[in-house]
Order: sequence, then C-alpha cells, then structure tokens
Amino acid sequence: MSPDIRLDPGAYDGSGLRAVGVVVRFGGLVALGGVTVEAPRGRITGLIGPNGAGKTTMFNVCCGFQKADEGTVTLDGKDISHESPARRARLGIGRTFQRMELFGSLTVRENVELAAEAAHVGDDPLTQLGIVGGRGKVRREVKATADELIRDTGLEPIHDRLASEISAGQGRLVELARALARGPKLLLLDEPSSGLDAAESAEFAQLLVRLVSDRDLGILMVEHDMSLVLTICQWIHVLDFGKPLMNGTPQQVRTSEEVRAAYLGQEGAA
Ligand SMILES: Nc1ncnc2c1ncn2[C@@H]1O[C@H](COP(=O)(O)OP(=O)(O)O)[C@@H](O)[C@H]1O
Ligand SMILES: [Mg+2]
Repeated sequence: MSPDIRLDPGAYDGSGLRAVGVVVRFGGLVALGGVTVEAPRGRITGLIGPNGAGKTTMFNVCCGFQKADEGTVTLDGKDISHESPARRARLGIGRTFQRMELFGSLTVRENVELAAEAAHVGDDPLTQLGIVGGRGKVRREVKATADELIRDTGLEPIHDRLASEISAGQGRLVELARALARGPKLLLLDEPSSGLDAAESAEFAQLLVRLVSDRDLGILMVEHDMSLVLTICQWIHVLDFGKPLMNGTPQQVRTSEEVRAAYLGQEGAA
C-alpha cells in the first residue's frame, strides 16, 4: 500500500482505539498473527474477513475478554492493554453483542434507565448510595440521560413496550441506547445487522452515521452484510487466517482481487 492512500480517509489521528501488533495463539493455532487495527473517533471503521479470520478474537482483545500474547491496545493514546473489561468499559469502550442481551420483562425505557444507572455506579458509588448528592438528584439525572438516549435512537414511540415484545430491529436500537449510556469513546459492534430486515438495517446504518458525527464517537464494526460495510464504513481492515490482508477505503476493498480471492467459496462469511 502506498503511503498516500493513508492520508484520507485512512489517516489516523491517534484518537479512539488502536490495537497494534496483536498476536493471539490458541495452543498451536495462531488466531491473530500480528494484526493492527485503528478506529479513531469520528469514523466508522469496518473489520471484515472470511469465517475464522480472527475478527471476534480481535474484538475480545480490544474489550479485554481475551488476553493477547503480544501487542498493545490504546484508547485516546492511553495504554489499556492490562486493564480489566470493566475498567475498559468505564474508560470508554462500549460494545454490543451478536446475541441481544435485554431484560425482556422490563420496558424499553427501564432497560435504558438501568444502563444509565449502571453508568452512575461506575462513576461514583457514594452518589449512587445516596450518601452524596441525594437519591432524588441521581434519579433525575438517570431519567434525563435515558430520555435523551431514547430520543436520539428513535425509541420514543415504543418506550413503554416490554422488551420481549419488540422486533429484532427495535431491540438492536435498545442495545445501542444502552451502550451509549456510558458515553463511550469507541463502540465495538459485532454484526449489528444480524436479525434485521433490509429496511431496518438501512435505518440502523443511518443512525450509526449520525451518532458518529454528533457524539465524537468512533465505531469499529464486524459485519456480515458487505453492502452495509461498503456503504457506511470510511475505512476497512480485512483479515484472513489471522493476518492483515489489506486496509483501505470501501472502493479499494470492493475492487481488490486479494479480497475477492479470500472470500471465494466462503458463502455467508462476514
Ligand atoms: N477460545 C478459543 N479456543 C480455541 N480456538 C479458538 C477460540 N476462539 C477462536 N478460536 C479459533 O481462532 C480462529 C479465529 O476465530 P474467530 O476470531 O472467531 O474468527 P471470526 O470471528 O473471524 O470468524 C478460528 O480458527 C477459531 O476456531
Ligand atoms: Mg466471529
């Protein structure tokens, strides 16, 4: 890759998430063999590759669920390689899961409020216990945060429905609102379009684009749906068998012979 390709939009300003030279071995298997991923704020970055390429392992290294054998992870320039998943979440790494994890017996609003409340606990246990600030104040702040998130994610019309009764697309929005409650600097999205129909998926994509520009947020997403990736990502990292295959703009990825070859015979790969 020639250096000038990196100027824009692949240029990296040091913000957001940077995982450098990551190596993960499972016994004899090298799941990641020296992979670097950069996901600055203000950009949607894609992480794609055929099944088994190492995408989920890379996500887990970024959020701290998987220990790397080599490499470092930084957030806004700060080394977080040795921080626990909980601490990384507090520092600003949010994530959603492929399988949704909502409380079905609670309403949409209650699901979002719980996440907003959890964000308070992490910040200041004394406030949460009512020792400082008072419960009424905390309660009002949680409600204000939840109101804003529900509005921003378009959940107002269904805010009092039970989470067990909403569609997959709506559930995805609730998950997103919950992840945003902590005010993340970087969101890791694992297959956000899974379970959504084409219209829901397009709507969700537009919401992500808006969030990135409104909230000084970066997104790193693993996504199955190639047309979605090519539409909303400004920069894409492609992995194959735990190795970086290429980094580039959607246009560069779309026309890459190497990428095409890697995907051949890989029906349904992300
Ligand atoms: N916990 C684990 N133990 C052993 N092997 C694993 C484990 N997790 C992933 N792998 C292997 O590492 C490779 C990369 O897996 P993964 O990161 O899930 O790929 P992807 O998400 O791109 O499909 C695969 O060969 C997979 O079988
Ligand atoms: Mg995976």
